[in-house]
Amino acid sequence: MWKRWFGKTNEDVTKLEAYKSIDFDKLPKHIAIIMDGNGRWAQKQGLMRTLGHRAGVETLREVVKAASGLGIRALTAYAFSTENWKRPDSEVKFLMDLFSEYLDREIDELHENNVKIRFIGRIEELSDLLQTKIESAQLRTANNTGLILNLAVNYGSRDEITRTVKIIANKVKNNEIKIEDINENFITNHLDTAGIPEVDLVIRPSGDLRISNFLLWQMAYAEFWFTEINWPDFKPNDLLQAVLSYQKRERRFGGLK
Ligand code: IPE
Ligand code: IPE
Ligand code: MG
Repeated sequence: MWKRWFGKTNEDVTKLEAYKSIDFDKLPKHIAIIMDGNGRWAQKQGLMRTLGHRAGVETLREVVKAASGLGIRALTAYAFSTENWKRPDSEVKFLMDLFSEYLDREIDELHENNVKIRFIGRIEELSDLLQTKIESAQLRTANNTGLILNLAVNYGSRDEITRTVKIIANKVKNNEIKIEDINENFITNHLDTAGIPEVDLVIRPSGDLRISNFLLWQMAYAEFWFTEINWPDFKPNDLLQAVLSYQKRERRFGGLK
């Protein structure tokens, strides 16, 4: 079971009213969340931005639990972009420490709940200590069969695509493959998200209507759900609302009804 954590309400997603309306045959396989608005949440209350990030981690914890309870296959959460290095050193350091702390604190419970944790992005540029924790978390949960939790840290979609192009170009150069072997599936299978279904639903809280270099290839046909709510105020019920909205959409993939 998921334990209580700090003072946060321990909402059980299956007990929420909206849960009854979910169509379990039409669940999005992969949900991607841009966890935005931590700073604005804090500033509104006269708090330091860092406290917003801390509150955001608690939201992540609740949303992971809810997604797992709902039976979602994969959840990718955008935690730090390749562009976020432009922020003040103190904020960057705070965030890096927070990721480390998150792993220390959450890994046991994630593992107990059968969550498979993976990191996407330029992990090799993170501190040695954080890399060690990431590797150990990935290794420990590698055989879990429940929710796949991808954490995007030092992730940028253009960077991912550029790295992938280099990997594939090297395979051609070394005569491992022929140019004719390169097709959409081949590219998909060389991205950081290889093996994970493409994104069905993108959620962005806090009112900005943009993608910010997140999973560009993977969300080619995703449905979008935006909300004004800042990430620290986002609740499991909001996840249900996003899924319910998704289930009402008609996805045509370029075809006809
Ligand atoms: C999202 O919250 C977290 C990260 C980008 C690391 P922000 O820090 O971007 O919060 P706002 O957008 O300034 O409110
Ligand atoms: C996107 O949020 C990245 C993360 C949530 C980690 P940003 O706050 O960095 O995005 P922009 O700068 O508003 O586009
Ligand atoms: Mg932001």
